Amino acid sequence: MRRPIVAGNWKMNTTRSEAEELVLAIRTLAAAAPTEVVICPPYVWLDLVSRALEGSNMKTGAQDVYWEESGPFTGQIAVTQLVGMCEYAIVGHSERRRLFGDTDEIVARKVVACMGAGLMPILAVGEDAEEHAAGRAEAVVRRQVATALAEVPPHPLVAAYEPVWAIGTGDAANREHAQWIATVIRDELRIAGFDPETVPVLYGGSVTPDNFPGFVAQPDIDGGLVGGASLDARKFATLVEQASTAAY
Ligand code: PGA
Repeated sequence: MRRPIVAGNWKMNTTRSEAEELVLAIRTLAAAAPTEVVICPPYVWLDLVSRALEGSNMKTGAQDVYWEESGPFTGQIAVTQLVGMCEYAIVGHSERRRLFGDTDEIVARKVVACMGAGLMPILAVGEDAEEHAAGRAEAVVRRQVATALAEVPPHPLVAAYEPVWAIGTGDAANREHAQWIATVIRDELRIAGFDPETVPVLYGGSVTPDNFPGFVAQPDIDGGLVGGASLDARKFATLVEQASTAAY
């Protein structure tokens, strides 16, 4: 059985003291759960958050990576700089794709870099509102997964289905749609040579304690990639608990 994962993406939120307070509250409230908990704070708080989680089972992740090893890339962070500080890295988040120009090919380079450095990529994919309305969700997700994994041999991986129109809107996908796309992701993983049964597939997009049990009850959804609700320690701990309950 795949272990459930709840990953919190803090995005560009929290001051230093807020980050400190939030991680300690999460550690207190969610420590006992069998769910794999991954906190993805802004880069500048990654060290602080990792230290605050020392001695717990909780993990940290970067919100993005750059694929070059070092050099004149102002503002970028290399995977080699993250090793030892976090175990996971989100790649292909729709905000990176939409606002910062990450193409499918760029996402593929980031996946290669993470795998080479031993960071577990959380590969985020999902159709936008227009693609959704045009019935192109499956085609878009197939293309995103296939391109992202084109250059890598099978390797431990987490996938996240995050329909762009559901992120930060309060308008979560319906659970049957999410379940269906999770099976599409698994099929593309199989085509790419991965063992699809070993790859956790998360749902992301306006996850709350009200809708999350419906997602994790789906046979192909193994947890969540959570934005807004991850900034509230109680809500986040509830999601962690719900994922644990669904799996055991
Ligand atoms: P949200 O964000 O939970 O605030 O919708 C999800 C994400 O962007 O990962």
